[in-house]
Amino acid sequence: MSDVNFLKLLDVDRDAGVFRVARKSFVDNDIFQAERSQIFDRCWLYLGHTSELPKKGSFVTRPVGGRNVIFNRDVAGTVHAFLNSCPHRGATVCREPAGNAKNFTCSYHGWVFGADGKMRDLPGIESYSEGFNGGGCADLVAVPRLEQYRDFWFVCFDAEAVTLVEYLAGATEYLDLVADQSEAGMEIISGTQEYAIRANWKLLVENSIDGYHAVSTHATYFDYLKNMNGVLAQSNVVGFARDLGNGHAVVEYSAPWGRPVANWVPAWGEERKGEIDAVFDRLVAKHGDQRATRIAKNSRNLLIFPNLVIVDGMSVTLRTFYPKQPDYMEVTAWAIGPSEEKDWLRKNRLNGFLEFFGPGGFATPDDVEMLEHCQRGYANAREAAWNDLSRGMNKAEPATVDEHQIRTFWSRWHALVQQAPRVIPLHAG
Ligand code: FES
Ligand SMILES: [Fe+2]
Repeated sequence: MSDVNFLKLLDVDRDAGVFRVARKSFVDNDIFQAERSQIFDRCWLYLGHTSELPKKGSFVTRPVGGRNVIFNRDVAGTVHAFLNSCPHRGATVCREPAGNAKNFTCSYHGWVFGADGKMRDLPGIESYSEGFNGGGCADLVAVPRLEQYRDFWFVCFDAEAVTLVEYLAGATEYLDLVADQSEAGMEIISGTQEYAIRANWKLLVENSIDGYHAVSTHATYFDYLKNMNGVLAQSNVVGFARDLGNGHAVVEYSAPWGRPVANWVPAWGEERKGEIDAVFDRLVAKHGDQRATRIAKNSRNLLIFPNLVIVDGMSVTLRTFYPKQPDYMEVTAWAIGPSEEKDWLRKNRLNGFLEFFGPGGFATPDDVEMLEHCQRGYANAREAAWNDLSRGMNKAEPATVDEHQIRTFWSRWHALVQQAPRVIPLHAG
């Protein structure tokens, strides 16, 4: 029986302008179990992008929501998501991270499945009854729900969940702002970043949409930008924060870096300016001035609840992260860009992906260090029970440096975990 009072994990006093989160939320195992059953087993989770399955038979395998999932395209071209666990006795069916396959053969007893998940061959089939697999018990098990929005594929382990579009709510506008950066279609660029952080996963949610920490945590990077680009100082960054519904949130801002989509900076050279302006003009012709400016010039950090972050800055980074324990998470990040992108811009984009967000870049190591410091504080200084997230509370128009977007996440998180049963059922995954 849990001794956690789930109702008291947030302390919100609107009149006093106070919003606090109990630090227990980052360390407690019962809360962690509640997150698995009430959040990761119920919410739509990012699976992958259409461009990762370019051909019939293309597949990738990856962890999603505590399961290993096969994301693939069958020989007829249909996209699937299967649990990568053999229906016979549970062995991992596909042990490759990516490739092309018409069939998957389980290494344990040799059952063979088509790319559509149907059992194709069964060693010793003569020893099974004729009606065996009449009901599909020997086929790969599909993830209960698989849907896409603009080439972004999501799964949900709750068969009763609302549709993806309903779930995404206001976040669809921001996925559009990514998808519309290309005329030919966006593509995932090969070269995934994978790293682990000794901190609770919600600390990375906060950090990914936290406009407040940049000046102090990333001072080195902004000095570097100033020297390299001769552009605005970080203090000139302006923008807003928005609640997009269902726990999704965004900060949108102008920033002193170039954006390969069409935001030229002096460091790219005068000779490149005309080329970039031409791309921008095409965006204006298609989307109008205001929307083209948002697509090309503005930067955004978008959180799709619970754990997809799209950092649309000097590159576009997709990032997911899953907790293994309350104080340990594994992070995966992909770069995405226009498939028609010129080589020099692609190089630039990948520099941005590596230079700022890479695990050895200017930003991520500093962020990781801060997150791990916070986690140690929760474990060691137990008498200090609360985290403060009150900045900009009750402001009509919260800015990127306020904490409105982080409160949006926590409010949804709290609504979901407090539904947690006191006796936690065995996890299905
Ligand atoms: S566990 Fe896969 S064939 Fe037996
Ligand atoms: Fe940061």
